Amino acid sequence: MKILGIESSCDETAAAVVEDGRRLLSNVVHTQIDIHKQYGGVVPEVAARSHIEVINPVINKALTDAGCTWDDIDAIAVTYAPGLIGSLLVGTLAARTLAIIHNKPLYAIHHVEAHVYANFITEIGGVGDSEIGNGLKKLAPLPSSQPLFPMLALIVSGNHSNLVLFRDHGDYELLGQTQDDAVGEAFDKVAKIIGLPYPGGPSIAKAAENGDPHKYKLPKSKLDNPYNFSFSGLKTATLRAVQAQTGNDYTFPSHQLAELLDDVTRNDFAASFQQTAIETLVDKAEKAFHDFSPASVVIAGGVAANQELRRQLRERLPLDIEYAPMQLCTDNGAMIATLGYYVAQKKDPVDPYDFEVTPSLSMTKTPWA
Ligand code: KG4
Ligand code: ZN
Repeated sequence: MKILGIESSCDETAAAVVEDGRRLLSNVVHTQIDIHKQYGGVVPEVAARSHIEVINPVINKALTDAGCTWDDIDAIAVTYAPGLIGSLLVGTLAARTLAIIHNKPLYAIHHVEAHVYANFITEIGGVGDSEIGNGLKKLAPLPSSQPLFPMLALIVSGNHSNLVLFRDHGDYELLGQTQDDAVGEAFDKVAKIIGLPYPGGPSIAKAAENGDPHKYKLPKSKLDNPYNFSFSGLKTATLRAVQAQTGNDYTFPSHQLAELLDDVTRNDFAASFQQTAIETLVDKAEKAFHDFSPASVVIAGGVAANQELRRQLRERLPLDIEYAPMQLCTDNGAMIATLGYYVAQKKDPVDPYDFEVTPSLSMTKTPWA
């Protein structure tokens, strides 16, 4: 079964074709990072306009790169939640229209759940030596096999920090989630404070390579539910430490702090923040591992690209974790198409004439009845 996956929930316009929920045939991602960089974050209206401009070419390229015509496609899967409303509307309208004119079943996909399914891609197909989507040929090795259930998933992205226990496809329990800022959001905000470019995750990771992770002592939050996350306090503590380091107090404009830092201090802040943020994630993953004895552990979302996170998990968990390649950790259509396959086994397609986006939808509400 070949599924076309369409993703447009935030600042990536993406489409991909995946066969049988495991074989990647194409993966096309148009990122808007350069557009939003100048604003230091994603501007929703600008994002939606950019999606409109590129969605059709991105979808067409995904089909061409997969060596598919519409006759070869069995179904369409599209992100309908959560995300920016204008961005979600562009992808879902494209998917609904294509489902109607090509008479294909349409499946509605939860973006955060889909991040986990990047880990189910274990093979690459596509059309021989021809170009098969940006980056596909350069992917790092794929996992050697699909994850086993029960599966513990640590989902860490720009908008989500979730620990989820999957008993089967569509049968999961949300153990904990962020109470305020998501971990990726904290990376992005701290990067801004210390003067590193957007997106903050990769730039903090890079700066941290040359910094001292123990230079500044930053706090880990303590919460009633040990699986919940809170990163807002860590972000504020970093801001206060930067103010103290530069001899300022809270009245000093925070957007002017960065220019007072030299490179050594900036790198030390990046490394100290990253150390505390990553340690927090690993502490909770380790506790869940011991409490629930999962058969496999997967990491998903943009922050899963973080090498320090991978290193600490390797050190502290007594099982080998296989990772999806970085291009499949950040937003992409392949994860949408992959989850679409498993949804199609258990659920009816949605009505393309009567189908709405849901900008805000926690994973608690989505296990597939
Ligand atoms: O999953 P994603 O592409 O989009 C969302 O659904 O949010 O995640 C984007 C987030 C951003 O906050 C970005 O700063 C973060 O992932 N990120 C990283 C790294 N690469 C991307 N965070 C830490 N280390 C990285 N190497
Ligand atoms: Zn995402």
